[in-house]
Amino acid sequence: MSEVVHVSDLHFGTESEVLVEALLADLGAAPPALVAISGDLTQRATAEQFKAARAFLGRIERLGIAALVVPGNHDVPLYDLARRFLRPFARYTDYITRNLAPTFVNADLAVAGITTAYGGLTKNGKISAVQAAAACQLFAASPSHWKLVVAHHPFEVANHAAEVVEGAEAALARFERANTDVILTGHFHIAHAAQPAARPAGHDIISVHAGTAISSRLRGEANGYNRLSFSPQAVSVIHRGWTGTGFADLQVQTFARHATLAVERDQLYASEF
Ligand SMILES: [Fe+2]
Ligand SMILES: [Fe+2]
Repeated sequence: MSEVVHVSDLHFGTESEVLVEALLADLGAAPPALVAISGDLTQRATAEQFKAARAFLGRIERLGIAALVVPGNHDVPLYDLARRFLRPFARYTDYITRNLAPTFVNADLAVAGITTAYGGLTKNGKISAVQAAAACQLFAASPSHWKLVVAHHPFEVANHAAEVVEGAEAALARFERANTDVILTGHFHIAHAAQPAARPAGHDIISVHAGTAISSRLRGEANGYNRLSFSPQAVSVIHRGWTGTGFADLQVQTFARHATLAVERDQLYASEF
């Protein structure tokens, strides 16, 4: 089945050329069906940094690999207040993509990108009911697929004190009803994968956070990214961390899809929709 490479927090402007080349070499050596990039493409949302991010995306596309990208809080100007409040995504849409809710569907996967960053004063981001519902509509139209959400800000945290995106609990309830399997996020610069078992309806969503792939903005762990390898009823989340000379598999976690519950919820969701 398909593989997805999940990279995040590129922060062009603080990137390492060595890491950029190593990441692209990895992608070329084992091309996934999709590269999902969960935001913070730039350090300060400058035109120059977006140009560098665009060039990086061009190189992924030239490898014949699809890319799905959502912006992060660093892709909104911090100090230019007029731009920040009135046209927060102007440079992102000029250089990266006009689509702030990108989707990807193939035989195995339905992937919904959600923009949780915005031009407001907090860096934690937010998700509206309309945004969550749009993702759920994609999933309802793709009932046989693994269903993935890609966003910058985490919806669930486990091991470290940090805030989740505003609106997380309501969005998670919707995602759960729509049989969402996996949520890919970034923002913390710390890799983490878990399947919290406390979802009220029992369909446990797998939370996957990626660290920073190529930036010097480290928070206590080496650069890295995730490779997700799907089989019909399980997904292996492989954390590829930087060793000093290349990326290597540092941790592999395998999660079940909870297929029985998914079928039950498919039926419930169809009646609610
Ligand atoms: Fe970041
Ligand atoms: Fe961020």
